[in-house]
Amino acid sequence: MKKRLKVLLLFNAPYNRPRGYDYREEFADPENMYTEHDVSQALKENGHEVSLLGLYDTLTPLFEEIKENRPDVIFNLVEVFQDKTHLEKNMAALLEMLGIPCTGATSDNMFICTNKGLNKKILAFHKVKVPRFYTFYRHHKVWLPKKMKLPTVIKPLCEEASRGISQASIADSEEAFLERVRFIHENMNMDAIVEEYIDGREFYATIIGNKRLTVLPLRELIFGELPEDARIATYKAKWDDNYRDRWGIKSVYAGKLPNGLEGEIMDVCKRAYRAMDIRSYLRFDIRVASDGKVYIIEANANPCIAEIDEVAQSAAKIGISYSQLIKKIVHLALQRN
Ligand SMILES: Nc1ncnc2c1ncn2[C@@H]1O[C@H](COP(=O)(O)OP(=O)(O)O)[C@@H](O)[C@H]1O
Ligand SMILES: [Mg+2]
Repeated sequence: MKKRLKVLLLFNAPYNRPRGYDYREEFADPENMYTEHDVSQALKENGHEVSLLGLYDTLTPLFEEIKENRPDVIFNLVEVFQDKTHLEKNMAALLEMLGIPCTGATSDNMFICTNKGLNKKILAFHKVKVPRFYTFYRHHKVWLPKKMKLPTVIKPLCEEASRGISQASIADSEEAFLERVRFIHENMNMDAIVEEYIDGREFYATIIGNKRLTVLPLRELIFGELPEDARIATYKAKWDDNYRDRWGIKSVYAGKLPNGLEGEIMDVCKRAYRAMDIRSYLRFDIRVASDGKVYIIEANANPCIAEIDEVAQSAAKIGISYSQLIKKIVHLALQRN
């Protein structure tokens, strides 16, 4: 690998800014573009020449940049385009057409991970355990399927970061179930997925690699004082620091797990990663039921990779510094064909 690369750090911005804009103000604000700040810093520590480009609702600056300042690699942090999260995969597909190595998941990877129903169909085919689920599309009849055991969790079919997930997402009656599906259809204008609620510990497992895979040490979400029947990672539980402090919700290194559970989780994750032909890195959200069965709740292609996020924290646990992690991700992009 050439030592000093021209890296284009590409991300979504909440507005259009001209090429060459330095984002100094945004990066200095710890509440704002902290991931972009961290990655940019790490790329520079690795000796690369970094150009920043934020996209809001037009692709013109990207095409201009590629023409006038063609990078060796694109570090792709785009999650939204024109305020639409489902265009994340389209962005990855577009970058693939430019013929420039690009970090993170492929557009195929994103396509099969973003839709929680499609993803579960693929995993189930490969005998990876997932909660029993049903999808309910807008403008179609909604009913509580006979086979579904209450309580259920009702989520937007293609969202992330727990958007649309609150305590009302857990339904323990037909009425609450119908009400929540209606909420997602009508208030969020999205399709819905309903899953049986898996009661148990929640773990996060990051895998890195194209062919040779490394499973990083597991993290666990501790629900603290949250009542037993309210233990899900809602939007507030993920993003509201006051709420997390109030209930004692925190994510920690999972530590030693009993009866070979750690090995089993790692095996399941590797099997799932290979079955879906994932490249680069991915984080699984996992629940282990009281009978010890390991369920994949979600596969997150291009998960959050700021220094405080699960992926980097897991890497740090085995001595992979943040700048080494970013180096590895760039390396995997160059290796990929
Ligand atoms: N079937 C389920 N059983 C138990 N908890 C669930 C289930 N589905 C989701 N959850 C809870 O809701 C959280 C968010 O769900 P997830 O599918 O990961 O959506 P997101 O993409 O928004 O992260 C999970 O981390 C978990 O705490
Ligand atoms: Mg999740």
